[in-house]
Amino acid sequence: MSQPFSSLRVDPDRMRESFNQLASIGVTADSGVDRPTFSDAHLAARKWFREHIEKSSLEFHTDGAGNHSAVLPVIARSDSPEAMTKTLILGSHLDSVPNGGRFDGALGVMAALEVLKTVRENGIRLNVHLEAMDFTDEEGTLVGLLGSAALAGHLTQENLQKPRGGRDKLVEGMNRAGLSDSSMLSAARKKESLAGYLELHIEQGKRLERTKTDIGIVTAIVGIWSYRLSFIGKADHAGSTTMEDRRDASLGASAFTLAAREMVMRDFPNCVVNVGNMDFAPGAFNIVPAQVDVSLEFRSPDEDEFNHLDKALLELAAKESACFGLELKTEFLGKHSPSLMDEKVRSAFAESCDALGLSHMSLPSGAGHDGQSLADLCPVGMIFVPSVDGASHSPREFTKWEDCVNGANVLLQAALRLAM
Ligand code: GLV
Ligand code: MN
Ligand code: MN
Repeated sequence: MSQPFSSLRVDPDRMRESFNQLASIGVTADSGVDRPTFSDAHLAARKWFREHIEKSSLEFHTDGAGNHSAVLPVIARSDSPEAMTKTLILGSHLDSVPNGGRFDGALGVMAALEVLKTVRENGIRLNVHLEAMDFTDEEGTLVGLLGSAALAGHLTQENLQKPRGGRDKLVEGMNRAGLSDSSMLSAARKKESLAGYLELHIEQGKRLERTKTDIGIVTAIVGIWSYRLSFIGKADHAGSTTMEDRRDASLGASAFTLAAREMVMRDFPNCVVNVGNMDFAPGAFNIVPAQVDVSLEFRSPDEDEFNHLDKALLELAAKESACFGLELKTEFLGKHSPSLMDEKVRSAFAESCDALGLSHMSLPSGAGHDGQSLADLCPVGMIFVPSVDGASHSPREFTKWEDCVNGANVLLQAALRLAM
């Protein structure tokens, strides 16, 4: 069925200009971006976004979690007072991983903003407010999905006391952005105020490219659990201590890393495990390592499987640590649950792709995204556009502009279907 708004399209040149301006903030020598949360470059990107919103004559909004957004207030189609209090949020994030790419997060925010501009200049009447959101610290430099968890009311004191990036770094970051624990905890919105959340993102994998498909419609977002594991041995002279006498913390940490890979591949084929960092103390050529702190993250699409994997990984860490005469300390650093995407939103995306003549396929997301914070409060959905060579969290990240524009048009069309 043809919709009254079916001919509406985003302005690809205007969106590209905004995208390029943003990509120049925190640009690295190899054309990636380095914008970890509340770094100078991230603060500069946030300031640019705010000024850009104000220049575009949209309403600028911020909250206690530092989420920044553009709001297009409802121009009501019906006089239903209930409809007029709800907001459909579109968005993503402006922070990046260290030495990341230009597209992860930035594309979703720029597309969301472009949708609002297009709706406004065409005078489209909707039943909900539209909001284009930059969520704080999606990538987890400090906490991970921080702004969206705060907005959803899921953030706790404990999350803020024991963040995975370390409490000192979080406090320093919040100070730089003029935020605090109490402001963070004040950012929750009422469930009744949310009409839904939609996000456009790059795929960060090769499935769309391999199958030559224009759009991926996300079925579910994987869950993420994190721990700091400390393997503790004894510092000794690296030259005069015999190999038998050493209690070398690096051996437990390394043996665990290899064994965890093998176990997950063998027993948990739907899951992944990652040791993203090892911190050696004292950390010198000529001292046997006394302690190695391991940053451990694992992901699963299924809550039950998480419980099994969690137990298996902790048992493995204890076993490998005992094997080398070490002590093991474990610190749980939080979890994000796996989330199913909303059926109605998925259909709105599929209908929009069909109307635009774009091919589409359903696929799960192995990356975490802010939608998983919101999925138990309101209808949430995501679409992916192809990533060249599947590259992401790397300066090699690249998506053809034509694909970015296709994604933005699907976002626009689906938002209109859901907002009318
Ligand atoms: C975010 O991109 C994540 O999946 O870690
Ligand atoms: Mn992202
Ligand atoms: Mn990312």
